[in-house]
Amino acid sequence: MARIISGTDISREIRAGIAEGVAALGEEGIKPTLAAVLVGSDPASEVYVRNKAQACQRVGMGSRTLNLPEDIEVDELFGAIDGLNADPQIHGILVQLPLPRHLPYKQVLNRVAPHKDVDGFHPLNAGLSFVGDPEGFVPATPAGIMKILEWEKVPTHGKHAVIVGRSLIVSKPLASLLMAPGPNATVTLTHKYTVDLASHTRMADILIVAVGKPGLITADMVKPGVVVIDAGTTRVVDPEGKPRYRIAGDVDFEGVSEVAAAITPVPGGVGPMTITMLLSNTLEAARRTSGATSSTLPEALVGSGKRGRRSSS
Ligand code: GUN
Repeated sequence: MARIISGTDISREIRAGIAEGVAALGEEGIKPTLAAVLVGSDPASEVYVRNKAQACQRVGMGSRTLNLPEDIEVDELFGAIDGLNADPQIHGILVQLPLPRHLPYKQVLNRVAPHKDVDGFHPLNAGLSFVGDPEGFVPATPAGIMKILEWEKVPTHGKHAVIVGRSLIVSKPLASLLMAPGPNATVTLTHKYTVDLASHTRMADILIVAVGKPGLITADMVKPGVVVIDAGTTRVVDPEGKPRYRIAGDVDFEGVSEVAAAITPVPGGVGPMTITMLLSNTLEAARRTSGATSSTLPEALVGSGKRGRRSSS
């Protein structure tokens, strides 16, 4: 029977450290603050944004939520993001995805000033983390997955990590983090057109699934002793349940936990770690405004405002 990896427990410890970092910056008169931009009223997005704001408050950070109408024009949304970019009280900005279909999401994400882009979705940050430059903000979910593996002392060196999914938010950055010097994993990235998915997943020492299809990975698709990380978050309506919906992962937890060595549950696995790493990135963004250190990136790339290298703590 697999060991259950609690992202909630790991998060509790990391967030205690973040709260200390927030308090230390407070002594310098800086209150790390995250702004969330929520367009429309998708119920799942509303819950995620509320959870992120609550998590900020619990570690002593500030949070601001911009609720914008579903039918907002793109220029108006750009104006709102520009306002946050220019606001010295705001250190991190996230635009909650998905956006309504009429909005060009790539252009919207590009509008966020890279030094406040704590989601790590701006192409500058995506590129920096791809080349292994620690100045780049790493997206929170892959950062959280790496933290889980580190915390749980899961060996990665030379091991075969198989990722299911090819998203910009999770899988692509995760692949580059896992294969980087340090973790040194061998990575296979699979997606919905992969022929005979099970032949790949069965070879995994570490299996990470980030697709959004509940029950996709079954016990016959994994090898004994695998470590399974389930990053699926599908909102499933349960008419009998209270509340009437629940979040389901991509892995058949009951079946796969009979075979795996360790597994993350949904909820309580990757989800809390994602929020924790978002807090960590926001703290880092705020630290960079403290002026204690200097930047190595050209000002033209990062926009105006004081910023500096990632501190060592
Ligand atoms: N929607 C789903 N995941 C994410 C995330 O990590 N960040 C943002 N901004 N929106 C999301």
